[in-house]
Amino acid sequence: MPDKEKIRELFDDIAPQYDSFNHKSSFGADRSWRRKAVMEIADTDRPIEVLDVATGTADFAIEVARKAAPGSHVTGIDISEGMLQAGRDKCKGLPVELMTAQAESLPFTDCTFDRVCVAFGVRNFEDRMKGLSEMYRVVKKGGKLVILELSYPKNRLIRAFYKIYALKILPRIGTGMTGNADAFSYLPASILKFPLPQEFMPMLNRAGFNTVRHSQFMFGVCRMYVAYK
Ligand SMILES: C[S@@+](CC[C@H](N)C(=O)[O-])C[C@H]1O[C@@H](n2cnc3c(N)ncnc32)[C@H](O)[C@@H]1O
Repeated sequence: MPDKEKIRELFDDIAPQYDSFNHKSSFGADRSWRRKAVMEIADTDRPIEVLDVATGTADFAIEVARKAAPGSHVTGIDISEGMLQAGRDKCKGLPVELMTAQAESLPFTDCTFDRVCVAFGVRNFEDRMKGLSEMYRVVKKGGKLVILELSYPKNRLIRAFYKIYALKILPRIGTGMTGNADAFSYLPASILKFPLPQEFMPMLNRAGFNTVRHSQFMFGVCRMYVAYK
């Protein structure tokens, strides 16, 4: 598992270029993946309390705040103050609050949120099981967890092409944009280490969630998990 201090430093360092790297490296597909996850979160006409874990520069939190019913509120937490700082200006005038905190010890009482979400953050948690258990603790009974995470295609041929992109091309794009070669040797490699659904869905059950479903986008390059308390 990644070391939390190293992850914090890595994201502090790449924060100013993070948004444009994201959109360029996914050819804009990250926006449509986020939209699908937002639809799962903002799926009711009543106001909801949402927690966006590993919120980064708050793109996902902002999208949720825009789509959720009036009166809804989004709290975004992250370990990287640099990422949060890059997000703060974008949140002005929206019901979004950003704060420094870690997924493994969330500073909220039990059953606080109607929805909890994480976009592209779970694979960087230092203690994944603790993070999942904490999210279970703070979501209300009947509430929902939505996770988006990068993964890899199961089909061998498509996976071979994807590996070339992830391990050879992506690090060049990232290093060229940020000057941080270490970050872009770690980040793409971590995608290939993240568990596939058959392993990850039982982890969600072990954290306490009772119903878990999974969908994949772009042959499995991105996966969405929806789990209920
Ligand atoms: C790839 S970025 C994703 C940011 C954002 N959710 C998005 O959709 O663009 C991953 C984020 O996870 C944060 N992170 C990593 N480990 C964390 C932890 N244990 N607790 C909270 N945030 C964490 C990093 O600081 C970083 O901002």
